[in-house]
Formats: sequence, C-alpha cells, structure tokens
Amino acid sequence: MNVLVTGGMGQLAKSIKDIEAKYPNIKLHFKSSTELDITKKDTVKTIFNNQTFDYCINCAAYTAVDNAEKDSDSAYKVNELGVKNLAKECHIDKVILIHISTDFVFGGSGPIAYTEKDETNPQNVYGFSKLKGELAIEKSMNQYFILRTSWLYSEHNKNFMKTMIKLASDRQNLNVVDDQIGTPTYTKDLAEVIFKIIDTKHDNYGTYHYSNEGIASWYDFAYSIFDEINSDIKLLPIKTIDYPTPAKRPLFSVLDKSKIKENLNIHIPHWRSSLREAISNLKQ
Ligand SMILES: NC(=O)c1ccc[n+]([C@@H]2O[C@H](COP(=O)([O-])OP(=O)(O)OC[C@H]3O[C@@H](n4cnc5c(N)ncnc54)[C@H](OP(=O)(O)O)[C@@H]3O)[C@@H](O)[C@H]2O)c1
Repeated sequence: MNVLVTGGMGQLAKSIKDIEAKYPNIKLHFKSSTELDITKKDTVKTIFNNQTFDYCINCAAYTAVDNAEKDSDSAYKVNELGVKNLAKECHIDKVILIHISTDFVFGGSGPIAYTEKDETNPQNVYGFSKLKGELAIEKSMNQYFILRTSWLYSEHNKNFMKTMIKLASDRQNLNVVDDQIGTPTYTKDLAEVIFKIIDTKHDNYGTYHYSNEGIASWYDFAYSIFDEINSDIKLLPIKTIDYPTPAKRPLFSVLDKSKIKENLNIHIPHWRSSLREAISNLKQ
C-alpha cells in the first residue's frame, strides 16, 4: 500500500516514521511543507497525479495556538483550505484520508468526557480553523477518518514534555496551571492506531476520538515529567486566570474513546505509562 504523509517534518509524522519498519506492506511517502504545501491546490494535484496512493495521512497543520489569534488568515489557510484541497484530491483519486483533528473543537465546560456525537464549540481561532477543516472533509468525501486527539508530545520537535525537561535544568521554580484538564497523548501511540487502521483496511469511516487513557491537568503532567527525570525543581500549581494567554483554552477537554476502542479492538495505554516510555526513548 502506498501512503502519502503530509507535514512530514512534524512530530506526529516523525513518530509514524519511527515505527514504519513494523509494517513492511505499507510504503510511506513523507512530504515536508516545502515539498508539498497543502494550501497550493496545483501542487496538491500534481502530487496526486504523479503517484497512486491508497491512503493520505494528513499531519500538516497550523499548530501555533496562540499565534493563530493574530494570524487567523494563516491558520484558516492551512487548517481549512489546505485540508479542503487534500480532501478533494483524495475524493477524485479514491484515496482514503486519515486526518488529525483536536480536542480544541470542544467548548470545555465538562465534566463528562466528549464523545464524537457531542456538540462542538471551539474557544479559539485554532479550534475554529480545525473544525472548519473537519467540515470541509465531511462535505467533500466519504472515505475518511478524522482522529481527534489531545495534548500531543514526543521525543521529536518542540512540545510540553521537552520544554519541561529543559526548564528542569534552567530553573529552580516553575508555575503550571492546574485547572485545565485533558489527556496527554504520546504521538507514538497515535501512530500505532493510524497504522492499525491502514493495516486492517478498517472501513467504518467517520470521526473518532483518540488520546491516551486517564486524565490530567498540565500541573499533573509537569509533575510526572519531573518525577520521571528525578528533578527537584519546585513546582507550584496556578490558575489559568493567573497565566493569561492570547488564545482561550477549554478548561476540560477529555475525550471519550469508547468508539475507537470498540471499532479497532485496541487497548489504549495510560498517559502515565506512555510518558515513561517517551522519556526512556528520548534518553536513548
Ligand atoms: N500538538 C498538539 O498538542 C496537538 C493536539 C491535538 C491535535 N493536534 C493535531 O495533530 C496534528 C499533528 O500535530 P503535530 O503536533 O505533529 O504538529 P507539528 O509538529 O506542528 O507539525 C505540523 C507540520 O505541518 C507542517 N505544515 C504547516 N503548514 C503546512 C502547509 N501549508 N503545507 C504542508 N505542511 C504544513 C509543518 O511544517 P513547517 O514546520 O515546515 O511549517 C509541520 O511540520 C495536527 O493536525 C494538529 O492540529 C496536535
């Protein structure tokens, strides 16, 4: 099977690459943003015309949540228009699209985990732009998987886990918010699920939620990272109101994973055990 991977230098794409050898029947074609800018319709067309793909994994996205508030044009260009370009070509060429979306499409009032049927209500430009991308896919095609996930981290690129590890050596004290609740998700676990969808030729298309198991605040996540690396940094819990950011965040964005667990018959690792694995992989 030939699989196109957009956003090929992003952290999720790199985690997909890390485990590709386990699936010799799947040939991945990674395209960086310079090789394939998904906002350029003609470039997208050319890539699809030059090669036959069975699947397209869209890891390309505008992910700078705070910058999106000021630079909304860029966020919509990539997360809505770019996704629409991919969806149209996938539909024409009968390519199954696996698209990654976000818990930030939800409002975050809690306290019950969001199912795929729950109403969306994004709180910031990034969330709106990602929702528009989902809608563009739903309008353009039928053979798609939209995987909504949350709080991605890995040994690759810049992310919360790596920032905390760096701060552990630079700082003696740190304040982290404890009133935003969600689930940290190791991109390697998400990558495994993407491969499972392709490898099993799963055909119950639609929207699915996937994160690691368990719930945490950013404070819990930071605490566990420092615990894992034996840091003695002094960590203090603070409230969101005391840490203003340009983009408003949902206070509760836990995802209900019942649908994906039933459909793919998978066991999802708890975020705490995946964090341990990620830190061990980072050390290597
Ligand atoms: N990170 C999270 O916490 C999180 C949480 C929930 C959902 N998600 C979703 O998960 C997916 C993967 O996220 P990630 O953390 O792997 O993101 P990432 O590391 O920021 O990777 C995104 C990639 O997209 C590329 N890109 C940006 N604009 C592009 C364009 N016009 N054409 C082609 N590629 C473009 C970027 O390339 P350049 O760097 O060259 O611009 C980057 O390599 C995204 O859809 C994101 O919305 C992420």
